[in-house]
Amino acid sequence: MTLNRRTFLTGAGAGLLLAGCDLHADQAAKGPLPVLPLSDLTGLDPDIIPLRLAASTHDFGTGEPSKTFGINADYLGPVLRVKSGQTLPFAVENALDEPVALHWHGLHIPGHVDGGPHQEIAPGDVWRPDVPIRQRSSTTWFHSHTHGRTARQVYHGLAGVLLIEDDASLAADLPQTYGVDDFTLILQDKAFDEAGRLTYELTGEVFEDGFEAETLVVNGAIAPVMQNVPAGLVRLRILNACNARFLDLSLSNNDALTVIASDGGFLASAVETATLTISPGERYEVLIDLSTSENLTLQVTFSEGEAEGLAILTQPIFGDPMMAALILNRDPSLEAFDGSLPKALANLAPPRATDALRSRDFELNMGDEGQLAALAEAWGNFCGEGGMGINGQPMQMERIDVEATIGELEIWRISADDMQHPFHIHGCSFRILRQYGDEPPAYAQGWKDMVAVQEGVSEVLVRFDHKADETTPFMYHCHILEHEDCGMMGQFTVS
Ligand code: C2O
Ligand code: CU
Ligand code: CU
Repeated sequence: MTLNRRTFLTGAGAGLLLAGCDLHADQAAKGPLPVLPLSDLTGLDPDIIPLRLAASTHDFGTGEPSKTFGINADYLGPVLRVKSGQTLPFAVENALDEPVALHWHGLHIPGHVDGGPHQEIAPGDVWRPDVPIRQRSSTTWFHSHTHGRTARQVYHGLAGVLLIEDDASLAADLPQTYGVDDFTLILQDKAFDEAGRLTYELTGEVFEDGFEAETLVVNGAIAPVMQNVPAGLVRLRILNACNARFLDLSLSNNDALTVIASDGGFLASAVETATLTISPGERYEVLIDLSTSENLTLQVTFSEGEAEGLAILTQPIFGDPMMAALILNRDPSLEAFDGSLPKALANLAPPRATDALRSRDFELNMGDEGQLAALAEAWGNFCGEGGMGINGQPMQMERIDVEATIGELEIWRISADDMQHPFHIHGCSFRILRQYGDEPPAYAQGWKDMVAVQEGVSEVLVRFDHKADETTPFMYHCHILEHEDCGMMGQFTVS
Protein backbone atom coordinates (compact mmCIF):
# COMPACT_ATOMS: atom_id res chain seq x y z
CA MET A 1 0.00 0.00 0.00
CA THR A 2 1.44 3.35 -1.05
CA LEU A 3 0.14 6.89 -0.85
CA ASN A 4 -0.23 7.10 -4.61
CA ARG A 5 -2.32 4.60 -6.46
CA ARG A 6 0.13 3.94 -9.25
CA THR A 7 3.21 2.00 -8.33
CA PHE A 8 6.42 3.95 -7.87
CA LEU A 9 8.60 1.47 -9.62
CA THR A 10 7.30 2.46 -13.03
CA GLY A 11 9.24 4.86 -15.24
CA ALA A 12 6.85 7.72 -14.51
CA GLY A 13 7.27 7.39 -10.75
CA ALA A 14 11.06 7.27 -10.88
CA GLY A 15 11.23 10.29 -13.18
CA LEU A 16 9.10 12.32 -10.82
CA LEU A 17 11.40 11.62 -7.90
CA LEU A 18 14.48 12.61 -9.92
CA ALA A 19 12.96 15.90 -11.04
CA GLY A 20 12.00 16.61 -7.44
CA CYS A 21 15.60 16.25 -6.26
CA ASP A 22 16.96 18.69 -8.85
CA LEU A 23 14.53 21.32 -7.70
CA HIS A 24 15.35 20.83 -4.06
CA ALA A 25 19.14 20.97 -4.27
CA ASP A 26 19.41 24.70 -3.57
CA GLN A 27 18.88 25.33 0.15
CA ALA A 28 19.95 29.01 0.31
CA ALA A 29 17.19 31.45 1.25
CA LYS A 30 15.37 32.92 -1.74
CA GLY A 31 14.04 35.85 0.23
CA PRO A 32 12.46 36.96 3.49
CA LEU A 33 9.48 35.18 5.04
CA PRO A 34 6.38 37.13 4.02
CA VAL A 35 4.68 37.93 7.32
CA LEU A 36 0.96 37.66 6.59
CA PRO A 37 -0.85 40.91 7.45
CA LEU A 38 -2.34 40.69 10.94
CA SER A 39 -5.74 42.07 11.76
CA ASP A 40 -5.88 42.03 15.57
CA LEU A 41 -9.54 42.23 16.58
CA THR A 42 -9.08 41.11 20.21
CA GLY A 43 -10.51 43.79 22.47
CA LEU A 44 -12.30 45.48 19.57
CA ASP A 45 -15.99 45.55 18.75
CA PRO A 46 -16.11 46.18 14.99
CA ASP A 47 -19.45 46.92 13.25
CA ILE A 48 -18.29 45.07 10.19
CA ILE A 49 -15.32 42.95 9.14
CA PRO A 50 -14.99 43.22 5.37
CA LEU A 51 -13.41 40.34 3.46
CA ARG A 52 -13.14 40.98 -0.26
CA LEU A 53 -12.51 37.99 -2.51
CA ALA A 54 -11.06 39.11 -5.83
CA ALA A 55 -8.84 38.09 -8.71
CA SER A 56 -5.36 39.55 -8.75
CA THR A 57 -1.76 38.78 -9.67
CA HIS A 58 1.06 37.67 -7.43
CA ASP A 59 4.77 36.93 -7.90
CA PHE A 60 5.65 33.78 -5.94
CA GLY A 61 9.33 34.49 -6.52
CA THR A 62 9.72 33.34 -10.11
CA GLY A 63 10.02 36.96 -11.30
CA GLU A 64 6.81 36.58 -13.27
CA PRO A 65 3.34 37.55 -11.97
CA SER A 66 0.83 34.69 -11.74
CA LYS A 67 -2.94 34.98 -11.94
CA THR A 68 -4.24 34.48 -8.41
CA PHE A 69 -7.18 35.02 -6.09
CA GLY A 70 -6.88 36.82 -2.77
CA ILE A 71 -8.85 37.90 0.27
CA ASN A 72 -8.11 41.59 1.00
CA ALA A 73 -4.77 40.80 -0.68
CA ASP A 74 -3.24 39.62 -3.96
CA TYR A 75 -2.86 36.08 -2.73
CA LEU A 76 -4.25 34.35 0.41
CA GLY A 77 -5.96 36.39 3.13
CA PRO A 78 -5.14 38.18 6.35
CA VAL A 79 -4.45 36.57 9.72
CA LEU A 80 -7.43 37.50 11.86
CA ARG A 81 -6.70 37.42 15.59
CA VAL A 82 -9.88 37.25 17.65
CA LYS A 83 -10.95 36.36 21.17
CA SER A 84 -13.41 33.73 22.30
CA GLY A 85 -16.68 35.43 23.30
CA GLN A 86 -16.65 37.81 20.34
CA THR A 87 -19.22 37.62 17.55
CA LEU A 88 -17.65 38.51 14.23
CA PRO A 89 -19.83 40.56 11.83
CA PHE A 90 -18.28 39.49 8.53
CA ALA A 91 -19.15 41.04 5.18
CA VAL A 92 -17.80 38.60 2.61
CA GLU A 93 -17.85 40.24 -0.80
CA ASN A 94 -17.53 38.12 -3.91
CA ALA A 95 -15.68 40.33 -6.38
CA LEU A 96 -14.79 37.31 -8.55
CA ASP A 97 -16.65 36.51 -11.73
CA GLU A 98 -17.59 33.05 -10.47
CA PRO A 99 -19.60 31.78 -7.49
CA VAL A 100 -17.81 31.25 -4.20
CA ALA A 101 -18.56 29.96 -0.70
CA LEU A 102 -16.31 30.76 2.27
CA HIS A 103 -16.12 28.20 5.08
CA TRP A 104 -14.72 28.71 8.59
CA HIS A 105 -12.73 25.51 9.10
CA GLY A 106 -12.44 24.45 12.74
CA LEU A 107 -15.10 26.74 14.13
CA HIS A 108 -17.80 25.43 16.47
CA ILE A 109 -20.68 27.35 14.94
CA PRO A 110 -24.22 26.64 13.67
CA GLY A 111 -24.75 25.41 10.12
CA HIS A 112 -26.37 28.62 8.88
CA VAL A 113 -23.10 30.56 9.28
CA ASP A 114 -20.70 27.67 8.45
CA GLY A 115 -20.11 28.75 4.84
CA GLY A 116 -20.49 25.35 3.21
CA PRO A 117 -21.51 24.74 -0.41
CA HIS A 118 -25.17 25.67 0.29
CA GLN A 119 -24.11 29.24 1.10
CA GLU A 120 -22.84 30.21 -2.30
CA ILE A 121 -22.23 33.94 -2.87
CA ALA A 122 -23.04 35.05 -6.41
CA PRO A 123 -20.56 37.35 -8.19
CA GLY A 124 -21.09 40.89 -6.90
CA ASP A 125 -22.99 39.76 -3.78
CA VAL A 126 -22.06 40.19 -0.13
CA TRP A 127 -22.69 37.49 2.52
CA ARG A 128 -23.18 38.82 6.07
CA PRO A 129 -22.86 36.03 8.65
CA ASP A 130 -22.47 36.93 12.34
CA VAL A 131 -19.99 34.29 13.44
CA PRO A 132 -19.98 33.57 17.19
CA ILE A 133 -16.60 32.52 18.59
CA ARG A 134 -17.33 30.33 21.61
CA GLN A 135 -14.44 27.91 21.75
CA ARG A 136 -11.02 27.53 23.33
CA SER A 137 -7.97 29.15 21.77
CA SER A 138 -6.91 27.48 18.54
CA THR A 139 -5.51 28.06 15.07
CA THR A 140 -8.39 27.80 12.61
CA TRP A 141 -8.72 28.92 9.02
CA PHE A 142 -11.15 29.98 6.33
CA HIS A 143 -11.19 28.89 2.72
CA SER A 144 -13.30 28.48 -0.39
CA HIS A 145 -15.86 25.66 -0.18
CA THR A 146 -17.63 26.19 -3.49
CA HIS A 147 -19.39 23.13 -4.87
CA GLY A 148 -17.05 21.53 -7.44
CA ARG A 149 -14.64 24.47 -7.39
CA THR A 150 -12.99 24.29 -3.99
CA ALA A 151 -9.70 22.79 -5.21
CA ARG A 152 -9.13 25.33 -7.95
CA GLN A 153 -10.16 28.32 -5.83
CA VAL A 154 -8.05 27.39 -2.79
CA TYR A 155 -5.07 26.61 -5.04
CA HIS A 156 -5.29 30.12 -6.51
CA GLY A 157 -5.34 31.72 -3.06
CA LEU A 158 -8.74 31.73 -1.35
CA ALA A 159 -7.55 30.88 2.17
CA GLY A 160 -6.70 32.77 5.35
CA VAL A 161 -6.02 32.10 9.02
CA LEU A 162 -8.19 32.82 12.08
CA LEU A 163 -6.27 32.76 15.38
CA ILE A 164 -8.62 32.33 18.31
CA GLU A 165 -7.32 33.49 21.68
CA ASP A 166 -8.94 33.15 25.07
CA ASP A 167 -8.09 34.37 28.58
CA ALA A 168 -5.85 31.37 29.20
CA SER A 169 -3.92 31.65 25.94
CA LEU A 170 -3.40 35.39 26.36
CA ALA A 171 -2.09 34.84 29.89
CA ALA A 172 0.01 31.79 28.95
CA ASP A 173 3.76 31.99 29.33
CA LEU A 174 4.33 31.56 25.59
CA PRO A 175 5.77 33.73 22.82
CA GLN A 176 2.93 35.83 21.36
CA THR A 177 4.43 38.89 19.71
CA TYR A 178 3.20 38.53 16.15
CA GLY A 179 5.92 38.86 13.54
CA VAL A 180 8.66 38.83 16.20
CA ASP A 181 8.49 35.51 18.06
CA ASP A 182 5.06 34.30 16.89
CA PHE A 183 4.56 33.49 13.19
CA THR A 184 1.81 31.97 11.09
CA LEU A 185 3.05 29.71 8.29
CA ILE A 186 0.85 28.60 5.40
CA LEU A 187 2.60 25.73 3.61
CA GLN A 188 1.61 24.83 0.05
CA ASP A 189 2.97 23.10 -3.04
CA LYS A 190 2.68 24.86 -6.39
CA ALA A 191 3.41 24.16 -10.05
CA PHE A 192 4.79 26.76 -12.47
CA ASP A 193 5.20 26.78 -16.23
CA GLU A 194 8.50 27.65 -17.93
CA ALA A 195 7.70 31.36 -17.82
CA GLY A 196 7.21 31.12 -14.04
CA ARG A 197 3.43 31.36 -14.02
CA LEU A 198 1.25 29.31 -11.70
CA THR A 199 -0.37 26.31 -13.41
CA TYR A 200 -3.28 24.07 -12.48
CA GLU A 201 -4.53 21.35 -14.74
CA LEU A 202 -7.07 18.66 -13.90
CA THR A 203 -6.66 15.21 -15.37
CA GLY A 204 -7.93 11.79 -14.36
CA GLU A 205 -4.61 11.24 -12.59
CA VAL A 206 -4.93 14.52 -10.67
CA PHE A 207 -8.42 13.53 -9.57
CA GLU A 208 -6.96 10.29 -8.23
CA ASP A 209 -3.91 11.55 -6.33
CA GLY A 210 -5.10 15.11 -5.82
CA PHE A 211 -3.07 17.96 -7.31
CA GLU A 212 0.56 17.50 -6.26
CA ALA A 213 3.32 19.89 -7.33
CA GLU A 214 7.06 20.03 -6.71
CA THR A 215 7.65 23.60 -5.49
CA LEU A 216 7.20 24.35 -1.79
CA VAL A 217 5.71 27.77 -1.06
CA VAL A 218 5.56 29.45 2.39
CA ASN A 219 3.06 32.31 2.85
CA GLY A 220 3.00 32.77 -0.93
CA ALA A 221 6.80 32.81 -1.46
CA ILE A 222 8.90 30.00 -2.90
CA ALA A 223 10.92 28.30 -0.15
CA PRO A 224 13.33 28.51 1.49
CA VAL A 225 12.51 31.83 3.11
CA MET A 226 14.40 33.47 5.95
CA GLN A 227 13.44 35.30 9.14
CA ASN A 228 15.48 36.96 11.90
CA VAL A 229 14.23 36.05 15.35
CA PRO A 230 15.26 36.77 18.95
CA ALA A 231 17.31 34.28 20.96
CA GLY A 232 14.92 32.01 22.86
CA LEU A 233 11.63 30.36 22.06
CA VAL A 234 9.88 31.08 18.77
CA ARG A 235 6.30 29.96 18.13
CA LEU A 236 5.19 28.78 14.70
CA ARG A 237 1.49 28.27 13.96
CA ILE A 238 1.53 26.03 10.92
CA LEU A 239 -1.26 25.33 8.44
CA ASN A 240 -0.95 22.76 5.66
CA ALA A 241 -3.01 24.40 2.92
CA CYS A 242 -1.83 22.06 0.17
CA ASN A 243 -4.56 20.64 -2.03
CA ALA A 244 -3.36 17.08 -1.52
CA ARG A 245 0.12 16.71 -0.02
CA PHE A 246 0.86 15.31 3.43
CA LEU A 247 3.99 17.07 4.77
CA ASP A 248 6.65 15.73 7.14
CA LEU A 249 8.25 18.53 9.16
CA SER A 250 11.58 18.33 10.97
CA LEU A 251 14.50 20.50 12.13
CA SER A 252 17.89 20.77 10.42
CA ASN A 253 19.91 19.94 13.56
CA ASN A 254 17.83 16.82 14.22
CA ASP A 255 16.49 18.39 17.39
CA ALA A 256 12.94 17.45 18.25
CA LEU A 257 10.09 19.74 17.35
CA THR A 258 8.10 20.78 20.39
CA VAL A 259 4.40 20.57 19.54
CA ILE A 260 2.09 22.58 21.82
CA ALA A 261 -1.24 22.67 19.98
CA SER A 262 -3.23 20.81 17.33
CA ASP A 263 -6.29 21.78 15.22
CA GLY A 264 -8.61 22.48 18.16
CA GLY A 265 -6.31 23.94 20.81
CA PHE A 266 -3.46 23.27 23.24
CA LEU A 267 -2.25 19.75 23.99
CA ALA A 268 -2.26 18.66 27.64
CA SER A 269 1.50 19.21 27.64
CA ALA A 270 4.20 19.76 25.07
CA VAL A 271 5.06 16.76 22.87
CA GLU A 272 8.52 16.28 21.41
CA THR A 273 8.74 14.65 18.02
CA ALA A 274 11.53 14.27 15.47
CA THR A 275 8.99 14.34 12.63
CA LEU A 276 5.60 16.01 12.58
CA THR A 277 3.29 14.76 9.84
CA ILE A 278 0.72 17.35 8.88
CA SER A 279 -2.07 16.54 6.45
CA PRO A 280 -3.89 18.97 4.14
CA GLY A 281 -6.22 21.01 6.35
CA GLU A 282 -4.39 20.31 9.62
CA ARG A 283 -2.82 22.89 11.94
CA TYR A 284 -0.13 22.45 14.56
CA GLU A 285 1.72 24.92 16.76
CA VAL A 286 5.38 24.26 17.49
CA LEU A 287 8.03 25.96 19.60
CA ILE A 288 11.60 26.20 18.35
CA ASP A 289 14.42 27.09 20.69
CA LEU A 290 16.98 29.55 19.28
CA SER A 291 18.85 30.01 22.55
CA THR A 292 21.58 27.52 21.73
CA SER A 293 21.79 27.64 17.91
CA GLU A 294 22.58 30.61 15.71
CA ASN A 295 20.25 29.38 13.06
CA LEU A 296 17.80 26.57 12.55
CA THR A 297 15.97 25.39 9.48
CA LEU A 298 12.46 24.01 9.40
CA GLN A 299 12.51 21.28 6.77
CA VAL A 300 9.74 19.63 4.84
CA THR A 301 9.52 16.40 2.92
CA PHE A 302 6.55 15.44 0.84
CA SER A 303 5.27 12.54 2.88
CA GLU A 304 4.77 9.20 1.20
CA GLY A 305 2.48 7.99 3.92
CA GLU A 306 3.09 4.49 5.17
CA ALA A 307 5.27 3.54 2.20
CA GLU A 308 8.36 3.00 4.34
CA GLY A 309 9.93 0.63 1.85
CA LEU A 310 10.04 3.44 -0.67
CA ALA A 311 12.21 5.77 1.42
CA ILE A 312 14.77 3.02 2.03
CA LEU A 313 14.78 2.26 -1.65
CA THR A 314 15.07 5.79 -3.01
CA GLN A 315 17.26 7.70 -0.57
CA PRO A 316 20.64 6.15 -1.38
CA ILE A 317 19.93 6.44 -5.10
CA PHE A 318 18.35 9.87 -5.34
CA GLY A 319 19.78 11.65 -2.29
CA ASP A 320 17.96 13.46 0.45
CA PRO A 321 14.50 14.64 -0.57
CA MET A 322 14.43 17.15 2.31
CA MET A 323 13.47 20.74 1.42
CA ALA A 324 14.33 23.78 3.51
CA ALA A 325 11.14 25.71 4.24
CA LEU A 326 12.10 28.39 6.74
CA ILE A 327 15.56 29.45 7.91
CA LEU A 328 15.47 31.14 11.32
CA ASN A 329 18.49 33.34 12.12
CA ARG A 330 19.14 34.43 15.67
CA ASP A 331 19.41 38.21 16.00
CA PRO A 332 20.69 39.19 19.46
CA SER A 333 19.46 42.77 18.99
CA LEU A 334 15.84 41.56 19.16
CA GLU A 335 14.24 41.26 22.56
CA ALA A 336 13.88 37.61 23.48
CA PHE A 337 10.88 35.92 25.04
CA ASP A 338 12.17 35.22 28.52
CA GLY A 339 9.83 32.42 29.60
CA SER A 340 10.61 28.76 29.49
CA LEU A 341 8.69 25.85 28.11
CA PRO A 342 5.46 25.47 30.18
CA LYS A 343 5.03 22.06 31.82
CA ALA A 344 1.25 21.87 31.46
CA LEU A 345 -0.70 23.57 28.68
CA ALA A 346 -4.33 22.53 29.02
CA ASN A 347 -6.71 20.43 31.05
CA LEU A 348 -7.34 17.56 28.72
CA ALA A 349 -8.90 14.41 30.11
CA PRO A 350 -8.46 11.19 28.11
CA PRO A 351 -11.39 10.58 25.74
CA ARG A 352 -14.05 8.27 27.22
CA ALA A 353 -15.20 6.07 24.36
CA THR A 354 -17.48 4.09 26.68
CA ASP A 355 -19.74 7.16 26.99
CA ALA A 356 -20.59 7.08 23.27
CA LEU A 357 -24.26 6.44 22.47
CA ARG A 358 -23.76 5.14 18.95
CA SER A 359 -21.20 4.56 16.27
CA ARG A 360 -21.30 5.16 12.52
CA ASP A 361 -19.17 3.68 9.74
CA PHE A 362 -17.80 5.55 6.75
CA GLU A 363 -15.78 4.11 3.89
CA LEU A 364 -14.11 6.53 1.47
CA ASN A 365 -14.36 5.24 -2.10
CA MET A 366 -11.88 6.16 -4.83
CA GLY A 367 -13.94 5.22 -7.83
CA ASP A 368 -12.78 3.76 -11.07
CA GLU A 369 -9.65 5.10 -12.81
CA GLY A 370 -11.09 4.95 -16.31
CA GLN A 371 -14.26 6.70 -15.21
CA LEU A 372 -12.26 9.50 -13.52
CA ALA A 373 -10.23 10.09 -16.67
CA ALA A 374 -13.46 10.33 -18.67
CA LEU A 375 -14.98 12.73 -16.15
CA ALA A 376 -11.87 14.95 -16.20
CA GLU A 377 -12.22 15.12 -19.95
CA ALA A 378 -15.94 15.91 -19.81
CA TRP A 379 -15.72 18.55 -17.09
CA GLY A 380 -12.92 20.58 -18.63
CA ASN A 381 -10.78 22.18 -15.95
CA PHE A 382 -13.42 21.80 -13.21
CA CYS A 383 -14.65 19.08 -10.93
CA GLY A 384 -18.22 17.96 -11.17
CA GLU A 385 -20.41 15.69 -9.14
CA GLY A 386 -19.47 12.10 -8.69
CA GLY A 387 -16.59 9.84 -9.55
CA MET A 388 -15.73 9.29 -5.89
CA GLY A 389 -17.88 8.84 -2.83
CA ILE A 390 -18.42 7.76 0.74
CA ASN A 391 -20.23 4.50 1.52
CA GLY A 392 -20.76 4.02 -2.21
CA GLN A 393 -22.45 7.36 -2.86
CA PRO A 394 -21.05 10.60 -4.24
CA MET A 395 -22.03 13.76 -2.33
CA GLN A 396 -25.39 15.14 -3.46
CA MET A 397 -26.54 18.63 -2.45
CA GLU A 398 -30.12 17.34 -1.95
CA ARG A 399 -29.28 14.25 0.12
CA ILE A 400 -28.71 14.26 3.89
CA ASP A 401 -26.54 11.29 4.86
CA VAL A 402 -26.48 11.49 8.65
CA GLU A 403 -28.84 12.98 11.23
CA ALA A 404 -27.08 13.64 14.51
CA THR A 405 -28.53 14.78 17.80
CA ILE A 406 -27.14 17.80 19.56
CA GLY A 407 -25.03 17.05 22.62
CA GLU A 408 -24.78 13.27 22.04
CA LEU A 409 -21.40 11.56 21.98
CA GLU A 410 -20.74 9.40 18.90
CA ILE A 411 -17.94 7.27 17.53
CA TRP A 412 -17.19 7.70 13.82
CA ARG A 413 -15.25 4.80 12.30
CA ILE A 414 -13.63 5.81 9.02
CA SER A 415 -11.74 3.67 6.54
CA ALA A 416 -10.72 3.92 2.89
CA ASP A 417 -10.75 1.45 0.01
CA ASP A 418 -7.41 2.83 -1.30
CA MET A 419 -4.84 5.58 -0.63
CA GLN A 420 -4.35 7.87 2.36
CA HIS A 421 -6.99 10.56 3.03
CA PRO A 422 -7.27 13.45 5.51
CA PHE A 423 -10.84 13.28 6.84
CA HIS A 424 -12.54 16.41 8.22
CA ILE A 425 -15.83 17.07 10.03
CA HIS A 426 -17.47 20.50 10.16
CA GLY A 427 -18.86 22.27 13.22
CA CYS A 428 -16.90 20.47 15.94
CA SER A 429 -13.63 19.29 17.40
CA PHE A 430 -13.14 15.62 18.17
CA ARG A 431 -10.61 13.29 19.77
CA ILE A 432 -8.86 10.55 17.83
CA LEU A 433 -9.26 7.10 19.42
CA ARG A 434 -7.42 5.15 16.74
CA GLN A 435 -5.63 6.14 13.57
CA TYR A 436 -5.05 3.42 10.95
CA GLY A 437 -6.14 0.96 13.63
CA ASP A 438 -3.42 2.10 16.07
CA GLU A 439 -2.95 4.65 18.79
CA PRO A 440 -2.47 8.08 17.18
CA PRO A 441 0.90 9.85 17.63
CA ALA A 442 1.05 11.80 20.91
CA TYR A 443 0.80 15.13 19.08
CA ALA A 444 -2.56 14.04 17.59
CA GLN A 445 -4.16 13.09 20.90
CA GLY A 446 -5.60 16.53 21.66
CA TRP A 447 -8.52 18.39 20.03
CA LYS A 448 -8.69 17.74 16.29
CA ASP A 449 -11.00 18.29 13.33
CA MET A 450 -8.89 16.20 10.94
CA VAL A 451 -7.94 12.53 11.08
CA ALA A 452 -5.80 10.59 8.60
CA VAL A 453 -7.40 7.51 7.10
CA GLN A 454 -6.03 4.60 5.10
CA GLU A 455 -5.58 0.90 5.88
CA GLY A 456 -7.16 -0.06 9.15
CA VAL A 457 -9.96 1.90 10.73
CA SER A 458 -9.53 5.41 12.12
CA GLU A 459 -11.95 6.20 14.96
CA VAL A 460 -12.92 9.53 16.44
CA LEU A 461 -15.04 10.44 19.44
CA VAL A 462 -17.21 13.40 18.55
CA ARG A 463 -20.05 15.48 19.97
CA PHE A 464 -21.96 18.11 18.03
CA ASP A 465 -22.92 21.17 20.04
CA HIS A 466 -24.36 23.33 17.26
CA LYS A 467 -27.42 22.94 15.07
CA ALA A 468 -27.48 22.53 11.32
CA ASP A 469 -30.73 21.96 9.44
CA GLU A 470 -31.20 20.44 5.98
CA THR A 471 -31.02 23.82 4.23
CA THR A 472 -27.49 24.43 5.53
CA PRO A 473 -26.16 21.05 6.69
CA PHE A 474 -22.62 20.40 7.90
CA MET A 475 -20.15 18.53 5.67
CA TYR A 476 -17.74 15.69 6.35
CA HIS A 477 -15.21 14.98 3.66
CA CYS A 478 -11.75 14.13 2.47
CA HIS A 479 -9.58 17.28 2.56
CA ILE A 480 -7.70 16.29 -0.59
CA LEU A 481 -9.59 19.04 -2.35
CA GLU A 482 -9.92 17.25 -5.69
CA HIS A 483 -11.45 14.26 -3.86
CA GLU A 484 -13.86 16.57 -2.07
CA ASP A 485 -14.89 18.19 -5.35
CA CYS A 486 -15.23 14.72 -6.92
CA GLY A 487 -17.86 13.62 -4.42
CA MET A 488 -15.86 12.24 -1.45
CA MET A 489 -18.10 14.23 0.87
CA GLY A 490 -21.32 13.75 2.83
CA GLN A 491 -23.81 15.98 4.60
CA PHE A 492 -25.28 15.84 8.10
CA THR A 493 -27.82 17.69 10.15
CA VAL A 494 -27.71 18.34 13.89
CA SER A 495 -30.98 18.88 15.73
CU1 C2O B 1 -11.46 22.85 5.37
CU2 C2O B 1 -15.11 21.35 4.57
O1 C2O B 1 -13.27 22.13 4.92
CU1 CU C 1 -14.42 22.60 7.95
CU1 CU D 1 -9.24 11.57 -0.39
